[in-house]
Amino acid sequence: MSVIAWTGELSVGVERLDEHHRRLINLLNQLGMAVAADDAQHVTGLVLGELIRYVFYHFGEEERLMEAAGYEDLAAHRQSHRIMADHVRTLERNYDTDPSRVVAAELYAFLADWLVHHIRSEDLRYIPSLAALQSIA
Ligand SMILES: [Fe+2]
Repeated sequence: MSVIAWTGELSVGVERLDEHHRRLINLLNQLGMAVAADDAQHVTGLVLGELIRYVFYHFGEEERLMEAAGYEDLAAHRQSHRIMADHVRTLERNYDTDPSRVVAAELYAFLADWLVHHIRSEDLRYIPSLAALQSIA
């Protein structure tokens, strides 16, 4: 199980949001390491709950800053967050109903892929807009 590394390439230029992304990556790596150590079923429940709370908090903060900056693609970005949030909620419901329905290795692969792709393809696009906000704040 490879560990995801946060590098400067993933920086969105706002320290607080970079910190959120590092925290999310860290939680995902905990899940990935549990999968590798075959301790996945126990850890999945713990990490899933924390991951979900943190994802929602992070989306809210990111959207608040994009809104304050008047970011032109806010609606599309928000929609992308909503789709992910709904998916994660479904995963949590499935886990609560029957933990064996949520396979930790698949969960890790899906979330890790989504997060890195989302940062690269969508978050990086708000850099100029948020940088302008910071310079007047
Ligand atoms: Fe985002």
